[in-house]
Amino acid sequence: MLDLRNPYIFAPIKTGYSDGDGRVTSHHLAYYRKRSRHVGAVTPEPFYLDARLRELPTQMGIDNESKVPGLKSLVDGIHAGGAAAIAHLNHAGRMANPKIPGNVFFSSTNRACETGGAQPTRMGKPEMDEVVDLFVAAARIAVTSGFDALELQLGHGYLLAQFLSPMVNDRNDDYGGDFAGRSLFPLRVVDAVRDAVDLPLLVRISGAEMVTGGIEIGESVALARELKSRDVAAVHVSAGTVCNTPPWFFQHMFVPIGKTWDMAERIHRETGVKVVAVGRISDITTAKTLEKRFADGFLAVGRALVADPDFVGKVLGLVEGPVRPCLACAEGCLGGVKSGHGLQCLVNPDVGRELLMVEPADNRRRVAVVGGGLTGMQAAITLSDRGHEVDLFEAEQLGGQFNLAPLTPHKHSMDQLVPYFLEELELRKTRIIKKRAVASDVLGYDAVVVATGSIHRVPPIPGLEEYRWAAILADEELPRDQHVLIIGGGLIGVEVATALIPVGNRVTIVKRTTDFGEDMEMIAKKLSLKIMKDSGVRFSDRTHVQRVDGHTVHAWREEQPIVFEDVDMIVVTTGMTSVDDLARELGGAVPIWLVGDAKRVGNAQSAIADAYLTCREL
Ligand SMILES: Cc1cc2nc3c(=O)[nH]c(=O)nc-3n(C[C@H](O)[C@H](O)[C@H](O)COP(=O)(O)OP(=O)(O)OC[C@H]3O[C@@H](n4cnc5c(N)ncnc54)[C@H](O)[C@@H]3O)c2cc1C
Ligand SMILES: Cc1cc2nc3c(=O)[nH]c(=O)nc-3n(C[C@H](O)[C@H](O)[C@H](O)COP(=O)(O)O)c2cc1C
Ligand code: SF4
Repeated sequence: MLDLRNPYIFAPIKTGYSDGDGRVTSHHLAYYRKRSRHVGAVTPEPFYLDARLRELPTQMGIDNESKVPGLKSLVDGIHAGGAAAIAHLNHAGRMANPKIPGNVFFSSTNRACETGGAQPTRMGKPEMDEVVDLFVAAARIAVTSGFDALELQLGHGYLLAQFLSPMVNDRNDDYGGDFAGRSLFPLRVVDAVRDAVDLPLLVRISGAEMVTGGIEIGESVALARELKSRDVAAVHVSAGTVCNTPPWFFQHMFVPIGKTWDMAERIHRETGVKVVAVGRISDITTAKTLEKRFADGFLAVGRALVADPDFVGKVLGLVEGPVRPCLACAEGCLGGVKSGHGLQCLVNPDVGRELLMVEPADNRRRVAVVGGGLTGMQAAITLSDRGHEVDLFEAEQLGGQFNLAPLTPHKHSMDQLVPYFLEELELRKTRIIKKRAVASDVLGYDAVVVATGSIHRVPPIPGLEEYRWAAILADEELPRDQHVLIIGGGLIGVEVATALIPVGNRVTIVKRTTDFGEDMEMIAKKLSLKIMKDSGVRFSDRTHVQRVDGHTVHAWREEQPIVFEDVDMIVVTTGMTSVDDLARELGGAVPIWLVGDAKRVGNAQSAIADAYLTCREL
């Protein structure tokens, strides 16, 4: 039985904070300590069972006894916060990372994942025995290290799901074929671990793999029934697979909310097994509603606790203040892990930097922050937290260009960020001066933070007189039934295209290089480009626009002329340029710090992080 102080469990999320030898680091300890204060249990990132099965070079391991002291310190830190510690054990199978030297690849099949990965060895009986031994050995190390429960990964397209999935498992021996055959090996692992150790056992599954031919909810109900008969403490119902359907696995903002909850509810209703519901439980109202809906079960929270370590404390009324909202964007978290930087967060600059402290300033200063975009607002917050007196100048609208980000389809969850910042500013009673600041406005301050952002660049194209930029997204009514030519195919061009398609426009998008959406988060990029292709958007890469002549646009593509006719409207999204004239005007008259897009054009995450890091020092 899993007996927790409340139903909230921190879901397993890869961090990439280890040292290359799979050890627990001080970074892990700081990160998990912050997130153990209010939840019922913490599931640290999935452990590798053998160093040759890693998903990340910097993953934590539970592969031998030498790991015990580190794991003990991890468990102690979690316990010190009052939470239980759950060890999540996973064998990645064919989804082990092919870029890690020495990795080995096993599966139910000898076919690689269609979207990438190494070709695996189809497992025979000896390899299966070895896998059982690996799980049992890891479970024993978890016991020695003081973990309170175990979670076995039977979902998300990893090894045991590669046996369960009718789409992957192409065997014709006892371990393939019908559900009984495909579940034989995964259930053998469950039995072996249950028999070997005396800890409550959770099992994570994908209620559905969300791909034609993959695991469907009906079979997941049957699996849950088997698991209940094995007396598991709970079945943790997620969705998707790491191979075919990452947007579902990561509960990305592009997929509808709540499908995982419905599946968890059905599994509980039809089998009576306790369930863990998961997926975008990231605001207080949703959490409270689901507490009632899953009164007999548990709620796993992932990214909301990455974005705000006190999220559950705020749900439970133990911590005051607004929730720093997870936007379900995957930009900082998945993006950080994939890029090798380790887990970060778009909205929370502390993630990945837990060892840095925000200390009170030695000398309290009067600071002017000029520009109230994300950079300026984060700067004002960090400066206030350090004890400085802050005035924030904003010429137009607090939030700056990020106010446009939620206005494209599928990005509505981004609309929580600016209101969050406004609430934080309000709490700190920051004086907001609605004015376009000039040098004389700020000369009397002890220091000036210049956060004046960026504006769109307009290429010098003869005849280009009438055009729009991304601000078109804020129009009360978007243009309809027009032929729109978008010049520039980065994030903003792609976003404008996806907003114009549903209202009947014919869209052509051109760019000088080849990679449309090159600066986008990878899931958003893939899904946006698919929407565009499916809607008949005309893409023209390596295209240099030369001249606009009424409704006709002339360009060169691969040394050949190309003409776009009947163009009703041109949207220019050819990049941004920093607005830094105030900094130049001020010269050395007052100490200045240039931050965010004003210093270097980046994105929301770099803007917030730059403000935080700069103002920690000021
Ligand atoms: C449509 C769109 C979608 C986007 N989507 C994403 C996304 O999904 N993910 C992501 O990471 N990034 C996204 N971005 C980029 C992101 O919004 C920016 O990188 C980030 O917001 C920059 O913040 P900033 O505060 O540095 O600059 P800005 O947002 O440009 O803010 C600068 C502010 O300063 C004010 N200002 C300027 N001069 C003065 C002055 N002299 N006095 C007073 N005020 C002044 C301006 O009015 C403005 O409010 C998107 C941008 C757009 C346009
Ligand atoms: C960066 C990142 C890495 C993750 N890694 C894993 C993983 O290795 N194994 C796993 O079962 N789930 C993993 N997850 C999924 C989470 O456990 C959780 O199911 C998902 O984030 C949805 O819950 P949330 O909306 O509360 O974040 C990961 C999620 C993120 C964002
Ligand atoms: S990066 Fe985005 S999705 Fe990930 S935790 Fe932060 S806000 Fe949430």
